[in-house]
Amino acid sequence: MRKPIMAGNWKMNCDNDEACKLACGIVDTMAAPGEAEVVVFVPATALTTVVNCVEDSPIEVGAQNLFWADKGAYTGEISGRMIVSTGARWVLIGHSERRGRFGKLEEGWTEAHVAYFGDSDVTVNAKTRKALEVGLKPIVCCGELLAERQAGRTDEVVGGQVRAMLDGLSPAEVAKLVIAYEPVWAIGTGEVCDAEEANRVCGVVRSVVAEVAGPAVAEGLRVLYGGSVSPDNVAGLMAQPNIDGGLVGGASLKAESFVALVAAAAASV
Ligand code: 13P
Repeated sequence: MRKPIMAGNWKMNCDNDEACKLACGIVDTMAAPGEAEVVVFVPATALTTVVNCVEDSPIEVGAQNLFWADKGAYTGEISGRMIVSTGARWVLIGHSERRGRFGKLEEGWTEAHVAYFGDSDVTVNAKTRKALEVGLKPIVCCGELLAERQAGRTDEVVGGQVRAMLDGLSPAEVAKLVIAYEPVWAIGTGEVCDAEEANRVCGVVRSVVAEVAGPAVAEGLRVLYGGSVSPDNVAGLMAQPNIDGGLVGGASLKAESFVALVAAAAASV
């Protein structure tokens, strides 16, 4: 039996005051999550604040990115050990908003802006290895663009990303990961992936993990779905056998809706 996870990705939202209010709101209204794990991925500037706010609660805290070196001349970057030193225990890696394939052209932006932060399969793998080395629990993301889905390439793209993120890891290391399947076209659009299709692709992720690290590791590994998860659609997603939880953006920014998602994860056990 895999323990479900409900994870909130706050993205670039919440200064320290807002982060404290949101975290306290979740702590104050959340019932005991039973068998579910609850993690909030907060801006780096709010890590210490939120770690303090959720102390003595079942909520755990993660960073949204890390750099693969321990220290040095990398202006603006944050190392795994720095994250650990805040008391956070998790880290998000390879979110599509950080990969060089986000593909969303906003007004006033040029093609040069679209890659955002340029994470690649290679840097995602390097960051995953570093996270494991410093003892952080990584949620590593994969997912296809709309054009890739329309071209019938979803399984190839997602499978390739999963193979790349696992490159060089031992089965014991792979067993420490959580993988999030987040179709890029479903993120922040309100257009959730059909639950059965999300389940199918999460199954593709699991089968690649089985090839790389063996069936026992694949059976135990948690695979989350992300992309427009809301209190209205979460039960259908959580009911799927290959979906072990959610990675949630928008609906994690209000205590009330995030707490409802946590309740749905707990009820799925
Ligand atoms: P939304 O839930 O806002 O679609 O965001 C999903 C996401 O990117 C979580 O990492």
